[in-house]
Amino acid sequence: MHIQTDGHTTFNPAYSHQAVDLQDSQQQERQCSSDRMGLLLLLTSSLLSSYFHPGIVVDAQRSFAIRNIVLSLEPSTNVTRDTNVTVRCKAIVSSSGSEVLSREYTIYKDSQKVYTKNSSTSEDLLYPLPGARVSNTGKYRCKINIEGKERKSEATKLTVTGLSKPVLHLNKYVVNEEEEVTASCTAPGETGSIFFYFYEDSKEILENRVNSNQLEAKFRFSSIGHHTINCAYAVLIIPDSFMSEQSNMITVSVKELSITPVLEIFSQSRVYEGDQLNISCTIRNSVNSSVNITHNLYLSHGTKLLSSGETKVNHSMVALAKDPGDFECRLEMGHVDKVTTKMVSVTELFSAPTLTMSPAEVFQKEYMTLTCKSENYASERITREELSYTLEPPDIPLTSMKPGVFSGKALQFDFNYTCVAQAKGIVKHSDTLTVYPKVSVSIPKISVVGKAVLGQPFRILCQSDTGSFPINYTLIRDYEQLSTTTVKLPPQEALFTVTISRPDEISKYMCRAKNNHREALLSKRLNATVIVPLTDPTLTVLPHIPEISEGDHLYLICGTKGSPPVTFKWYRDGNKQPLFTTTTDKNNTHYQVSHLSKEHSGTYYCEAVNHANIVVRSEKVTIEVRMALWKKAVIGGVCLVVVSMLVVACVLYFKSKRVRVVRAAVSVWSERPPEAANDEESSVVSSEPDVEYTEVVHPQPVDTVRVPLRKGTDTVYSELKNLPHGDADHHDYQGSVEYAELNSDRPEISHHLPEANDPQDLPVPVD
Ligand SMILES: *[C@@H]1O[C@H](CO)[C@@H](O)[C@H](O)[C@H]1NC(C)=O
Ligand SMILES: *[C@@H]1O[C@H](CO)[C@@H](O)[C@H](O)[C@H]1NC(C)=O
Ligand SMILES: *[C@@H]1O[C@H](CO)[C@@H](O)[C@H](O)[C@H]1NC(C)=O
Ligand SMILES: *[C@@H]1O[C@H](CO)[C@@H](O)[C@H](O)[C@H]1NC(C)=O
Ligand SMILES: *[C@@H]1O[C@H](CO)[C@@H](O)[C@H](O)[C@H]1NC(C)=O
Repeated sequence: MHIQTDGHTTFNPAYSHQAVDLQDSQQQERQCSSDRMGLLLLLTSSLLSSYFHPGIVVDAQRSFAIRNIVLSLEPSTNVTRDTNVTVRCKAIVSSSGSEVLSREYTIYKDSQKVYTKNSSTSEDLLYPLPGARVSNTGKYRCKINIEGKERKSEATKLTVTGLSKPVLHLNKYVVNEEEEVTASCTAPGETGSIFFYFYEDSKEILENRVNSNQLEAKFRFSSIGHHTINCAYAVLIIPDSFMSEQSNMITVSVKELSITPVLEIFSQSRVYEGDQLNISCTIRNSVNSSVNITHNLYLSHGTKLLSSGETKVNHSMVALAKDPGDFECRLEMGHVDKVTTKMVSVTELFSAPTLTMSPAEVFQKEYMTLTCKSENYASERITREELSYTLEPPDIPLTSMKPGVFSGKALQFDFNYTCVAQAKGIVKHSDTLTVYPKVSVSIPKISVVGKAVLGQPFRILCQSDTGSFPINYTLIRDYEQLSTTTVKLPPQEALFTVTISRPDEISKYMCRAKNNHREALLSKRLNATVIVPLTDPTLTVLPHIPEISEGDHLYLICGTKGSPPVTFKWYRDGNKQPLFTTTTDKNNTHYQVSHLSKEHSGTYYCEAVNHANIVVRSEKVTIEVRMALWKKAVIGGVCLVVVSMLVVACVLYFKSKRVRVVRAAVSVWSERPPEAANDEESSVVSSEPDVEYTEVVHPQPVDTVRVPLRKGTDTVYSELKNLPHGDADHHDYQGSVEYAELNSDRPEISHHLPEANDPQDLPVPVD
């Protein structure tokens, strides 16, 4: 070892290609360090001397190379059982010196070290596997270590096939049912990890893994008779396993024990409900053989254990028809269970009662009868009179006149009833009968859904506040049935569609509700507002059309027939928007146009609509606003004045000026109404009065026309301002607010009254 260490420290770095290998070697060294310490002490002197010895130095310097290592399997990688297999490990090492290298070979099987050998020759390492077994199957690998330098071969897989036939041995071939059998299964010559399997009549009964080639097992048989036993094994070669063939078959006879349980039931030939049953469960030992195994008896009925004991069990009970299941007497002896069963059929003494109600439907507080009856009874044992019936719960206010018949008033809520029949200590309950007392229908209410419009279909709803469904509702008119609807579920409603032609017809409708055998309940008469659709729209004009002239107040009266409230709308032909809209509770109303002017001329009509939603429209009326009489007169007068003024002016121009003439003219002006302001312009274009009027509508041209006139007639204008025209102003002002069409007049007003309140008038240039 020590020498190896020395070699290690000196070997050629060119071969230290595997650091891991180095570390391994160092580890090995550490493990052996204690030994080394001793050796070191012992060899110190010789080493010290050898340091200077030329032979040792040469030894430390020798170098070698492990060129290759190959593992091969002979005779083949695939062999059959019993073949003498040899694992050959061939290492090719080249070295410089003639010194012997110490080689350490290790053989691995499936990564497990299986063989190690040191050698100092260059011969191949041979690892014999004489008489190969399946368990030798695996991947083999070989490693060589020379002075700490290692190399591993590739892995080579050896497959060995063929397993020996398993051999089964039993200790007994005849047993009684309680006895155990010892069986041993052998896999001759096999090695490795082995699973053994035992079979009884080809059914696997036991499985176990051992690391030997034999398994011993003990078992009992499930039933008496002949049973065939055999075994097999499997060799575990991770990740596979190899199954052997089946072993020899051995037949075992299982004999019944002489001891058996006996079940006896003492009763009459036919068992009725209520009869007493005496049951005993005992043991019979036919051979009287000495069975000294401890045993126990269990008597049970269905899933209920009635009694248990060691040698004899008695039980006494009343037979009941409904009890299910057989009687069973079970003997438990060591590992053996023996069972005897018997069935007892119990005849019903009487059948379970049924509870019925009449009538099938009952209303709250109405009379009802509940009948409880057992349909069948064993007349050979009891009479009908022996059967007694009661109702449950017992505190129900129902009286029983006859057995099983209970009558009285129905409760006001749902109730569960059960009846009980009894005879000879046997009690039987009926199924639960739930009585749902119904609620009588209340007086129905009749109403209109939405609006009732004359001549249009509308819906009538008939509804009772309370009452069990289904409810039949019938619509009646003049005591004649029109139609019937059945309401079966709450969201459903009794709706009838009708049409009436006169408003008073609505009160002829009534309805009836019925949900039981009693008299149907009648509602009140239908009381609802009938909407009469509008008809005969008229537009009346005041004053009469030929008499309408400027300055008048015009009334456009719209009237119609039908149910109020009515919404009236007045239109001027050509305008889509109504002039005026109003809703009133009267059948007619008016729209007033105050202070008419020429541009109010036009065609007018009105429309009316009420809740019937049918719009009616009046005839169209054409209105022509005539010029006021005084205007005509003034025009004539102004013409005269202008002419005479011109004449006077001419005269004055050529002669001396006389103011008196002008003053006379002023007196003419002062008598005019304020509206005559227009006449300033009129006077300019007096030849065509109609055109002049149109220009008044647009204030801009008016001003431009006015300017030249004003210069010449300053005194006239100032006089006009002083006129007492307050009323007239007020009049005009009102008109301009009410009617958009009159707005064009307003600049004129402000012209007369520069101090007018209307702020819109302020920007108008006066001076
Ligand atoms: C080995 O033998 C088995 C059957 O004996 C065969 O299936 C398998 O192919 C063989 N393998 C080789 C590598 O010969
Ligand atoms: C295997 O080797 C043994 C001796 O080790 C020998 O007796 C046997 O005959 C050989 N078997 C075969 C099949 O060569
Ligand atoms: C069981 O009943 C049988 C007859 O029915 C009777 O002879 C015996 O004494 C009873 N045994 C016990 C333990 O009650
Ligand atoms: C009646 O019995 C049924 C169940 O059988 C139960 O759901 C119900 O609530 C009972 N009704 C009354 C009123 O007790
Ligand atoms: C009809 O109903 C109105 C109120 O809705 C009521 O004032 C009127 O008296 C009722 N008429 C009748 C005949 O019941």
